[in-house]
Amino acid sequence: MRITHLLLIAATVVSVHGLVLPFRVPQVTLNLGKWVTYSEDSPDDGYMNNPQFELWLETQKNRSFDLILENIGGISTSLDSNVAPGAVLASPSKSNPNYFYNWIRDSALTIRTLIYHMDDHWNEEATCLQLQEVIENYIELNFHLQRIPNRSGRFDSPDRAGLGEPKFMPDGSAFDSNWGRPQSDGPGLRVSTIANYVNVLERADRSFASEFLGNLTFVYEHIVRPDLEYVMANWENDAFDLWEEINAKHLFNSLTQLRALADGIKLAEKAGEDKEFVDALRTEFQNLKQWILHPSSGFTHLLLPYLVETPALVDQKQRSGLDAASLLAALHAHNIEYGNTGDIPFDVTDTTVLNTIGAMVADMKYRYPINHDRIRLRQNIGVGLGRYPEDVYDGYGTSEGNPWFISTASAAEVVFKWIFLTIDGKKDIEITPFNRDFLGLFTETSEESIAYGTDSFRRIVIAMFNYSDSFLDIIRSHIDDKSGAMLEQFNKYHGFMQGAEKLTWSFSSLYNCARWRLKASTMIDTVKQEAY
Ligand code: NOJ
Ligand code: NOJ
Repeated sequence: MRITHLLLIAATVVSVHGLVLPFRVPQVTLNLGKWVTYSEDSPDDGYMNNPQFELWLETQKNRSFDLILENIGGISTSLDSNVAPGAVLASPSKSNPNYFYNWIRDSALTIRTLIYHMDDHWNEEATCLQLQEVIENYIELNFHLQRIPNRSGRFDSPDRAGLGEPKFMPDGSAFDSNWGRPQSDGPGLRVSTIANYVNVLERADRSFASEFLGNLTFVYEHIVRPDLEYVMANWENDAFDLWEEINAKHLFNSLTQLRALADGIKLAEKAGEDKEFVDALRTEFQNLKQWILHPSSGFTHLLLPYLVETPALVDQKQRSGLDAASLLAALHAHNIEYGNTGDIPFDVTDTTVLNTIGAMVADMKYRYPINHDRIRLRQNIGVGLGRYPEDVYDGYGTSEGNPWFISTASAAEVVFKWIFLTIDGKKDIEITPFNRDFLGLFTETSEESIAYGTDSFRRIVIAMFNYSDSFLDIIRSHIDDKSGAMLEQFNKYHGFMQGAEKLTWSFSSLYNCARWRLKASTMIDTVKQEAY
C-alpha cells in the first residue's frame, strides 16, 4: 500500500519537473515569510499570537464577509438593478471569464457563511435582521428557480430533473447555452443550507421574517421536499461534478446528498411530513450510505491512502483521484454545530481525509513552482493547493492548472476542525501505519498513542495548528492587501491572482476557515492552560 503511494508521488515529481519554467517572477507581495516566527527551537511560536498575522486574518475575515454581500442582489451597493434579490453571483466578472451567474452550488455554500455569521451574532438584532432578509431572499428566489423549465429538464417531471440545472441568469431566468449539466449536487446543498438556517433560527429563537415563506411547513413542502425527491430519484445516476467537467459518480455529490437526506429527515419530521415519506428518506439514506462505503463505489481504494473523488477516472487511469473536492465534501457534509455528523462517513477525523491533504501537498509542492521556496523552510508546511493534480483550467481557458484559494483554505479548515474535535473530545491521538505519513510530520515521538493532555499531545496539536496557519499565510501573500479582494486562482509560476475576480466562494472559504481557526485556538488555549 505504502509502496504504491510512494511510486505515485515519485512519478508525479518526475513528470512535473519538466514543467518548471527556467525563470522565476517575484511574488505579488514581497513580504512573504517576513513575520514567520516559527523556529525549531520554539515550537510554541509560529503564527499563533503573532499580532500582525492575527490582525491580518481578522481584517480579511471581515472584508471577506462584506465582499460576499457585495455579490448578492438586493443588498449589494455595486451590482446592476436587474440582479434579482437573493441571487448570489459567483463573481461580478461579465467576461473573460463570464461568472455573472447564480450557480446553485456556489450560492448554497456561500449563503452558509452568512448563516454561520448570524449564528455567531445571534444577540445583535440589526445584524440578524439584515442577514435574515438576505438569506430569505435567497430561499425565496430558489423557490422560483426550482420551477423554471431549463435544459436539465422540468420541475414537474417525476424525477424532478429540472432541479439538476447548475446555474441561472442573474435576473432569475434560465441559462440556455451548452454547459456541463445536470449537476447533481445543487438540490442537496440547498436542503442542507436551509436546514442550517432553520437550526440557527431555532437557536436564536426567531422565525421566518418573509411573508412569502411564512413558516417551516411552507419552506419544507415547497422547496425542501422537491429537492429531496430529486436526491432520492437521482443519486444512482451519473451527473457532472462540482468542477463541471466530468459526467460520472463523484464523492462530493454523493456525500453532500447523503447529508441532505439526513437533514431532510429532521426537517420532514419537524414539518409534520407523512410517515411514508420519512420512511422513504430513511431507506434511501441507508442505501446511499452503504453504497458510499462499499468498495464498489471506489471512493476508497485499497491501494490508495486518500479519498477518490471520481473513481471512474482512476479506473480509466486518467487521474490520481486526488481532489480538493474531497476536502470540500468532508467540510460541507459535516456540520459539527448542527448535528448528524456521526452518521455521515468521511468527517475530518477520518484518516483518509487527512491523507488527502498529505497527498495533495506532496504532489503540489513540486507541481506548482510557486511552492518551491516554501518547502525549503521546513517539512511540515502548507503549500498553495489546486483543485486536482491533472487540472488544466487556468481561470480563463485551458492551459495549466494553478493553486486555488478555495482549495488552500479548505485544507487549513479541515485541520483546524480536526484540532477542535480532537481536543474537544479529549481524544488521545493514535498513530497508525495508515496515518503515520501525515501525523508523523508533527511529532517526534515514536509512541503509538499520544495521550490527551500530555506534553507530546500539546506539541502535536500546536504543530498542526501552525501547519494550518501556513496555508492561510500563503493566501495572505497572494491577495490584494489594500482591498482584500480574491480572485479564483493564483498563478503557479509567479503568484499573481487570476481567473474570475472577487470570487464569492473564495471569500466564503476564507471566512469559514478563519472561523474554525478561532474555535481551534480556543481549544489550544485550554490545552496550554491545563499544562501549567
Ligand atoms: C468552466 C468551469 O466552470 C470550470 O470549472 C471548468 O474547469 C472549465 N469550464 C473547463 O473549461
Ligand atoms: C468554476 C468552478 O469549477 C465551479 O465549481 C464553480 O461553481 C464555478 N466556477 C462558479 O464559481
